Amino acid sequence: MIKILASDGMEKGAVAALEAKGCQVDQQFYDPEALKEAVKNYDVLVVRSATKVRAPHIDAAKEAGKLKLVIRGGVGVDNIDVKYAEANGITVRNTPRASSQSVAELAMGHMFACARFLSIAGHTMREDKWEKKAYAKGIELQGKTLGIIGFGRIGQHLGVMAKAIGMKVVAFDIFHIPGIEEQLGINYVSPTSSASMPPRWTAAPSSTPTPSPR
Ligand SMILES: NC(=O)c1ccc[n+]([C@@H]2O[C@H](COP(=O)([O-])OP(=O)(O)OC[C@H]3O[C@@H](n4cnc5c(N)ncnc54)[C@H](O)[C@@H]3O)[C@@H](O)[C@H]2O)c1
Repeated sequence: MIKILASDGMEKGAVAALEAKGCQVDQQFYDPEALKEAVKNYDVLVVRSATKVRAPHIDAAKEAGKLKLVIRGGVGVDNIDVKYAEANGITVRNTPRASSQSVAELAMGHMFACARFLSIAGHTMREDKWEKKAYAKGIELQGKTLGIIGFGRIGQHLGVMAKAIGMKVVAFDIFHIPGIEEQLGINYVSPTSSASMPPRWTAAPSSTPTPSPR
């Protein structure tokens, strides 16, 4: 039986799916010292960001000879000494696509919020102020051009959503993915060509920020 330690917790459905496949999943957080002992008993260690997997944990795991895989449920792997783990025969994996849509939706949410002063209007309303005029100068995103710098996983999700609400979308990236322009209907542009760059947002010098495409 494969023994899995999910030291930063695991979603119920994932635990059930793994258990249905005959794995044992233990959800228990250990402090760094205690983790050295704990890892000796597991084939797989699944972490999010709270657990740090450092050289002493890898040394302990290697001594016991059981741990084969460390999975980071998320994008960055800076909480794991990846090179040291792999040099000691322990594979490290992450889930780089898992949060791309969420992050893109967050960015989209901020775009709507900026276009309509949602944050400041909410704040002032909770201060019993009804600043209807000050925050009535919102703009539509439809028809505006969005320039995405870094057209990777998140950028592509964002581009697709922005197109769906009627924005024009262009992208800049140091690496061009063959076929992606045709697939998504979004073209790469050069940052040096001002004609191809999208209009920018500026903050008006008054106390009420006004987005002004130029
Ligand atoms: N805050 C969060 O919850 C969260 C979640 C996921 C990802 N992220 C972060 O968001 C970032 C993007 O994630 P992703 O999954 O889209 O990554 P990705 O690797 O798929 O995309 C990044 C893109 O940026 C491009 N790039 C790199 N340097 C560049 C430069 N100088 N100019 C232009 N383009 C450049 C790369 O070629 C790549 O296409 C990462 O830093 C990631 O860690 C944050």
